[in-house]
Amino acid sequence: MGLGATAILFCMLLDPVFLQTLEQQDLPTVAGIPSLNMKFDSWRMELSWDCKENTTYLECVMIHKDKGPIEITPQEKECHCKFSDYSLHDGVTLMVKVNSTQRPIPETLVYTNAGGEGTAAQNFSCFIYNANFMNCSWAKGQAAPDDVQYFLYIRDSRKKRERECPCYIEDSGTHVGCHLEDLSGLASYNYFLVNGTSQGTGIQFFDSVLSWKKIEIFSPPNNISVHCTRSHCLIQWEKPKTRHNLPNWEFKYQLDIQKQIEVSGNWENNYNFPSPEPRAKHTVKIRASDARIEKWGAWSQAVEFGSSRLKGYSRRFHASKTNG
Ligand SMILES: *[C@@H]1O[C@H](CO)[C@@H](O)[C@H](O)[C@H]1NC(C)=O
Ligand SMILES: *[C@@H]1O[C@H](CO)[C@@H](O)[C@H](O)[C@H]1NC(C)=O
Ligand SMILES: *[C@@H]1O[C@H](CO)[C@@H](O)[C@H](O)[C@H]1NC(C)=O
Ligand SMILES: *[C@@H]1O[C@H](CO)[C@@H](O)[C@H](O)[C@H]1NC(C)=O
Ligand SMILES: *[C@@H]1O[C@H](CO)[C@@H](O)[C@H](O)[C@H]1NC(C)=O
Ligand SMILES: *[C@@H]1O[C@H](CO)[C@@H](O)[C@H](O)[C@H]1NC(C)=O
Repeated sequence: MGLGATAILFCMLLDPVFLQTLEQQDLPTVAGIPSLNMKFDSWRMELSWDCKENTTYLECVMIHKDKGPIEITPQEKECHCKFSDYSLHDGVTLMVKVNSTQRPIPETLVYTNAGGEGTAAQNFSCFIYNANFMNCSWAKGQAAPDDVQYFLYIRDSRKKRERECPCYIEDSGTHVGCHLEDLSGLASYNYFLVNGTSQGTGIQFFDSVLSWKKIEIFSPPNNISVHCTRSHCLIQWEKPKTRHNLPNWEFKYQLDIQKQIEVSGNWENNYNFPSPEPRAKHTVKIRASDARIEKWGAWSQAVEFGSSRLKGYSRRFHASKTNG
């Protein structure tokens, strides 16, 4: 018991990079080159090392499980490399290739996700809705202890603005989600980190790089109107309000007029179809999606049109906001 407890405590006190540096000292050092004492700042994605006199550094490499090797050439005389954002929760191997007289010699740092297996937040996802809001959610890891607490940090890919979740969604006191109402400073790509604490166990982190374009869910189209003539009905709408002003061709729509019709956003946000009089009462609902990544938003409220007794029947409807 005594030994186990000491070992656990030891893991908690040491950050993963420091642990790895200790491990590294057991490896045979490369002849002629003193250890570079590499450090990796995972939040900034920055690898740094002790500068050595008369040494040039040829390349930094991050070996990523999914992305493979990512190579960066450091500036001359500089002893650090800044990587763009990658998820690190599966661990990465980092290398600096040092120029020596014989051949480039790599020095390696293995960065691992310290903490108990299965303690990290799982099923993490986020979505942007109503153009200005974002909700993220996750679940407690299967092996996470009862007293686990999770924290969400978000940083834009230019590493300019970082923040902790301002408003957590809780389940019996455990943070399992986040609601954001201020999306200013979010870039096209953003780095999300869920780390955690517990009294007894180290908690692994989960991280992910998400593009806002992929996670935005569109509100229903606005101002749906229907104008019918003797033979046709023209349904018109306005594209939904989105986080960034997107061109029409970035949208597609579904119209539910009893049967479902898909319409490209490329045209004038309208759909004209034969519907000769006398015309029974119809309803139409519309929803929108990104044209390339299929992810349908909510349906608009149904708009009624058509009546066999009226000529040139027309109706305008102002769709209301769904969420706020
Ligand atoms: C670095 O190079 C300079 C000039 O070539 C030399 O005088 C100096 O001794 C070198 N330093 C080391 C630590 O090798
Ligand atoms: C590597 O170092 C040697 C001298 O030690 C130098 O001549 C050579 O240009 C260097 N190569 C690079 C790519 O910096
Ligand atoms: C996480 O997602 C998987 C697959 O979608 C599902 O089977 C599992 O029940 C989810 N776990 C939790 C805790 O929500
Ligand atoms: C987002 O989260 C907030 C806070 O829990 C909640 O009130 C709101 O309904 C959620 N929005 C959506 C679209 O799920
Ligand atoms: C989680 O990560 C953030 C951002 O790097 C850091 O400030 C915070 O101390 C970390 N929290 C824990 C519990 O590791
Ligand atoms: C709906 O249309 C009216 C008039 O055409 C316009 O004033 C209003 O801003 C539109 N509403 C939305 C949400 O676009």
